Amino acid sequence: MRKNFGAKAWTYPQPVYMIASYDENGVADVMNVAWGCIAGYKQIALYLDVKHQTTENILKRKAFSVSMGDASCVEACDYVGIVSAKKEPQKVEKAGFHVVKSNFVDAPLIEELPMAVECQLLSYDKESELMVGEIINVSVDERILDSDGNIDLSLFSPITFDPVHNDYITLGKKVGNAFEDGMKLKK
Ligand SMILES: Cc1cc2nc3c(=O)[nH]c(=O)nc-3n(C[C@H](O)[C@H](O)[C@H](O)COP(=O)(O)O)c2cc1C
Repeated sequence: MRKNFGAKAWTYPQPVYMIASYDENGVADVMNVAWGCIAGYKQIALYLDVKHQTTENILKRKAFSVSMGDASCVEACDYVGIVSAKKEPQKVEKAGFHVVKSNFVDAPLIEELPMAVECQLLSYDKESELMVGEIINVSVDERILDSDGNIDLSLFSPITFDPVHNDYITLGKKVGNAFEDGMKLKK
C-alpha cells in the first residue's frame, strides 16, 4: 500500500541555493532557493517569485551567483530565506555574509560559502516565474580543494532542504559510482 499526499512540491534532495545579486545601486542581496536545478550542461533553472528583490535585481543587472548553502552558516542561509531586502536594507550584513564582486559576471560572491556558480541571465518568464541562467564560471575556494585541485566534499558541508519537515540536512556517505554500477545489470 502507498499513501497518496496529493500535489506537493516534494522531492529529495532539494538544494539550498544562495542566490546573490546586486541592485541598481550596487547593494548586494542574497536569497535562499530550494526550487532550482541544473538545466543543461551550461544552464541552471530557478523558480523565483516575481516579487522578490532578487528577481528585480537580476532582471536589471542580468547576472547572479548561486552558492551552495553550508552547515557552517545554516542560520544565515535560513535568515536570507525569511527576510527580504525590500524590508531590511542591511540584510546581507545582518546575515553575517561578506561579499566580493565576481570577476566573470555582474554579481557578488559570498566569501563564507566556498563554491559558487556564476551566471548570466538567459531568460525569465513572469507567468511561470522560471528563470534560466547561463553558467559562465564555477569558482571554488582553495580551502575545499584536495591535493589534485578537485573539490573535496569532506572539506565543506553543503546542505539540502527537506520540504516535508522543513529541515536542513547535510549530505550522506558515498554509496555508489555513477555511470558504472548500473553496468552490472546491462546485458
Ligand atoms: C528553505 C527556503 C527555500 C526557499 N525557496 C524559494 C524558491 O525556490 N523560490 C522563491 O522565489 N523563494 C524561495 N524562498 C523564499 C525567499 O528566499 C525569501 O522570500 C527571501 O526573503 C527573498 O528575499 P529578497 O526579497 O531579498 O530577494 C525560500 C525560502 C526558504 C527559507
